[in-house]
Amino acid sequence: MGALEEIKARVNIVDLIGRYVALKPAGKNYKARCPFHPDDTPSLMVSPEKGLWHCFGCGAGGDAITFLMRIERLSFQEALAKLAQELGIELRQGGEGKARLFQVNLEALRFFQRELRGPSGEKARAYLLSRGIEEKLWEKWGLGYAPPGWDGLLRVLSRFGVQTLLELGLLIMGERGPYDRFRDRLIFPIRDEQGRVVAFAGRAFEGDPKYLNTPNSPLFTKGTVLYGLDLAKEAIRRKGRAVVVEGYTDVITLHAVGVEEAVASMGTSLTEDQARLLSRHTEEVVIAYDRDAAGEASALRGMFILHGAGLRVRVASFPPEEDPDSFARKAGKKAVEEVLAQAQPFHEFFVTALSSRHDLSQPAGKEAVLREAREFWPTIKSAVLRLEIAQKLADLLGLPLEEVQEALRGVTKPVSSAEEKEEPLLTPEDLVVKFLVEGKIPDSVVTEILAEERRFSEVYREVVRRWTELRAEGVPDPGLLVPSLSPTAAARLSRLLLLDLKVADENQALEEALLRFLYLPRLAERMEAVKLALKDAERRGDQEALRHLTLEFQRLCRERFELLRRR
Ligand code: UTP
Ligand code: MN
Repeated sequence: MGALEEIKARVNIVDLIGRYVALKPAGKNYKARCPFHPDDTPSLMVSPEKGLWHCFGCGAGGDAITFLMRIERLSFQEALAKLAQELGIELRQGGEGKARLFQVNLEALRFFQRELRGPSGEKARAYLLSRGIEEKLWEKWGLGYAPPGWDGLLRVLSRFGVQTLLELGLLIMGERGPYDRFRDRLIFPIRDEQGRVVAFAGRAFEGDPKYLNTPNSPLFTKGTVLYGLDLAKEAIRRKGRAVVVEGYTDVITLHAVGVEEAVASMGTSLTEDQARLLSRHTEEVVIAYDRDAAGEASALRGMFILHGAGLRVRVASFPPEEDPDSFARKAGKKAVEEVLAQAQPFHEFFVTALSSRHDLSQPAGKEAVLREAREFWPTIKSAVLRLEIAQKLADLLGLPLEEVQEALRGVTKPVSSAEEKEEPLLTPEDLVVKFLVEGKIPDSVVTEILAEERRFSEVYREVVRRWTELRAEGVPDPGLLVPSLSPTAAARLSRLLLLDLKVADENQALEEALLRFLYLPRLAERMEAVKLALKDAERRGDQEALRHLTLEFQRLCRERFELLRRR
């Protein structure tokens, strides 16, 4: 049994949650006022039997570890370590070993820095200067150069052992032995909050990939670090805000012109861990991504994550075709400050970003906007933010507020309190996921469902994928699934698992859910395709095709009728 399983098996979720809120027994479960939102009726439910909790008011939920993460603002690793310590379970990971690994990374950085200054660094030096990154910045940011050979670093650091260098991602194991990962690249060291080198990014002068990064290693987990935070944290506190950009060069140039509260997410989507890092230093974040990247779904999701961590989020828009780096260089500090000051509140930006992708003069365009907004709905925890967004959408789409709210909520109306004995409404998708994870669906049908994974909404797609992975290992235990999911997915799944269905016939409920979720939509798609083909055949005057397609359409109609009648 791994440490995680052991912790999960031994932790007493009722004791743990009971340290923070007053729990009252309710049948075989316990309930309490939820600590994560203003709650005047006890909406938080805890099931000792399942080891899960869920709030029927705000939608938060998960297992003991996620509860501890949220309430103490800890990362997964930190929460795990805390529980392990309390339970006297040993987590493998020597502190002494880590110190040595940091030392090795530092030695690697020194090598890259020497190379930048040395004869082989000529090209890299010229490149940096041509981009306006002057010599005094090289030291500050630890910039370096990885020479073109295959074993420059390997030879210099071999005393640390190939195994260690491989573990740190400095080397790659090839068929003919290990070789340097970074070759002929500009090196940007990635440092943690305390300034320790945890990873490297290497920028190519030309060709792909533009940036090559250290893979996850004992010192580095993707999505847990913010580039530049070690040098920005003081300014972030002083100015009361952080500016989040995408790239290394954006950070370096912004700092150089005096916007020293800038950090980079390194790519577009922000994670919970990064949000937590930021929330330790400030309450406000201004996102300053390249314009096209800011509106992407993953970037928007990151902004909701920031919001969910209690941060005020605004989005700055630089002129088209400019990124913070190029803009700061051309226009200077004052212009950057102006753009940042004009940053839009996130809810406004969100609505504008969604609507700019669709034609709002058409009903189909309006529907598409609502559909996309709805994908995000479960991730929006704040009632105020929900209302603001719904209001903006209503204005923009020219629809009554109530209608927009209804559309966004879908069928899954949140139940306001666990006390209300009303049966919570589950969508067919909810039911399919619940039955799937609980192992109540026959294998042949599982295969069918997995083949059409795209039908699941994003949150559930994550659940289903993770479940499939666990299933391949032969242990589809729902309790183990929860801690391996993102917080949003974990919350949704724990809600599903906590709900005891009060249906007389589970088989029939499953059939019905599959019908609504899988069979009918699938048929509808086919019918749509045939209709299109019919139109096309008509235009071409293709009689043979017309006859054939009409028959096909009739067959599908019959199939649909049969499906509905069988119930
Ligand atoms: P950009 O392509 O905007 O790069 O990617 P950049 O930082 O502005 O670099 P320059 O100015 O062109 O030299 C933004 C960020 O996305 C990540 C990096 O963190 C980069 O800084 N990225 C981009 C990668 O990790 N890999 C890539 O191949 C590209
Ligand atoms: Mn860029």
